[in-house]
Amino acid sequence: MDIRLLDAVPSEAERAAVDAVLGAPASGWDGGARVTARDSHLAYGGRAMRERRHELVPALQALQARVGWISEGGLGYVCERLQVPPAEAWGVATFYALLATSPRPRRVVHMCDDVGCRDKGGREVEAALLAAGGSAVAHEPSGTHMNLDANTPAWMHSPCLGLCDRAPAVLVTDAGDPAVERLLGHVTPDVARALLAGAAPGADALANTVVPQVGDPSLVLLRRVGVVDPTSLDAYRDAGGYTALARALQLGAEGVIAEVTASKLVGRGGAAFPTGRKWEAVRTQSATPHYLICNADESEPGTFKDRVLLTGDPFAIVEAMTIAAFATGCEHGFVYLRAEYPLANERLQGAIDHARAAGLLGESVLGGEFRFDIEIRRGAGAYICGEETALFESIEGKRGEPRSKPPFPVQSGVFGKPTLVNNVETLANVLPIVLHGGAAFAATGTEQSTGTRLFCLSGAVERPGVYEAPFGTSLKALLHTAGASPRMRAVLLGGAAGTFLPAADTDIPLSLEGARAAETTLGSGVVMVFDDSQDLEAAVLRIAAFFRDESCGQCVPCRVGTVRQEEALHRLARGKTRGGTEAEFALLEEIGVAMRDASICGLGQTAYAAVESAVKRLHLFQGGTA
Ligand SMILES: Cc1cc2nc3c(=O)[nH]c(=O)nc-3n(C[C@H](O)[C@H](O)[C@H](O)COP(=O)(O)O)c2cc1C
Ligand code: SF4
Repeated sequence: MDIRLLDAVPSEAERAAVDAVLGAPASGWDGGARVTARDSHLAYGGRAMRERRHELVPALQALQARVGWISEGGLGYVCERLQVPPAEAWGVATFYALLATSPRPRRVVHMCDDVGCRDKGGREVEAALLAAGGSAVAHEPSGTHMNLDANTPAWMHSPCLGLCDRAPAVLVTDAGDPAVERLLGHVTPDVARALLAGAAPGADALANTVVPQVGDPSLVLLRRVGVVDPTSLDAYRDAGGYTALARALQLGAEGVIAEVTASKLVGRGGAAFPTGRKWEAVRTQSATPHYLICNADESEPGTFKDRVLLTGDPFAIVEAMTIAAFATGCEHGFVYLRAEYPLANERLQGAIDHARAAGLLGESVLGGEFRFDIEIRRGAGAYICGEETALFESIEGKRGEPRSKPPFPVQSGVFGKPTLVNNVETLANVLPIVLHGGAAFAATGTEQSTGTRLFCLSGAVERPGVYEAPFGTSLKALLHTAGASPRMRAVLLGGAAGTFLPAADTDIPLSLEGARAAETTLGSGVVMVFDDSQDLEAAVLRIAAFFRDESCGQCVPCRVGTVRQEEALHRLARGKTRGGTEAEFALLEEIGVAMRDASICGLGQTAYAAVESAVKRLHLFQGGTA
């Protein structure tokens, strides 16, 4: 391919980091030493190179992890190796918040400033970081931080880190060989100051994954979490692990799908699509190969249920993926894992490696003809990549911009092939369905919402954490179990894309139909509690800023609408409206309807939901004047 490469030269460390991911260069055409006799007669590129494009993001991540940022020389070397035009690679690198195209120090402390952390000590941590380290580094491709010293730690704001049950949270990234990443909870101002002074980050907050209901015999999805060693295949097998896979192989692909359909399981990733129908649609596609993707991007503010399954019971996800692949004819599976979960990455990779070594993955699963393997792809800091088609783009090495549908993923997903995408929690449900049958599974919950559901309780509750409850359980009862504050003012149900409910309206059944009747959504299972000590308007402003920041910018209603929405809210909060409060509310409504009706994907379509409920149900932002 004829591309104009950059003149900047990579350092030895950058070259080594890229080669560790891509392998050594094969010739002078892709970054190796030029051997005239050979290289002048051969051309490497074209189709073979295009097929390696999906390695672009892992190669950029390797640079980031080794030196802390992506220099022009490093970027140029990746482009040479993969024959990707530098402008395009730069477009990809600048899309992801955890990739830096201007110099950053080796250590960066990413501080969660989202709704779950800010009122739980986050503000104090932020003040300490500000005093000790100066202003936060911004994710700017403009190079405004060119003077940062590589050895002086810096800090950045981060959207929700998925550790709301141990707020306030920070993610520490130390570039090097090896790079170190730690997610830390219950961070104090002293700890924050020490991290900026270079102190070792200590153990990951999730090293001992526990759930508030640990030991409760009624648990299904969480029953092994905190009880069975998540790093041991033997322990998993002793606790009944891998009996579901054996049963699935007996049932056959169609038998498994029949049970999943009978269970009436619906997706837990937010859209509640019937899982059996999706599996059948993938199984019957004639195009090959079929791909399986476990969506573990979990970036919805307030959500941390998948993290608990991934760190507390990783073999279950590997087993469930193997069953899903068997039923739908997939030979290759990806786990798209959010970058902010380093321990989940370690545990899951350990589970995959153990399973492969034991013949539970690979060329001949359990000695039979079924072949399947799993690869982890880590996100790079982009909420939108949880949207399934944006996720495909990201795996393919592109900016995470959603595709228009149709075609639907079951027909044309990653690499243009039939693709099954399921959420982590959805997959976890497959094990009890296969073991005990779809009918037994459907006996729990309600007629339309079967089984149990994981809920992420955080905020003003005494016992935050992930709770498992049968569908139909009342929200009020769940709040009581978690010890919600007697001064509770509101609940954010379903996440940033969900709705606020006033405290008086929490006596509703937690089922899909119950939520619909109450004009709300269960979304990703977020139940965030706010009491009267908290500034609810500030929380709504943070949610609006989140959507503005995370919009991929591809379609106008969302790109412009999320900005205009935030501006109107700030005017209302400051009491400096244009034309009065009612006029601003009318404008918000107009923007919200345009975003809902004309955006390509769910991000734009739900960006007004929490704002609308804050205005109409909580009656916030009433203090404005013309
Ligand atoms: C902006 C946005 C973010 C999303 N993030 C996630 C996510 O982090 N995890 C997830 O499983 N689904 C997420 N989804 C939903 C996925 O697009 C998809 O519906 C889901 O992974 C399908 O799996 P399920 O049928 O098992 O729910 C997101 C959707 C949107 C619009
Ligand atoms: S709705 Fe927003 S996030 Fe989704 S494609 Fe459009 S601009 Fe991107």
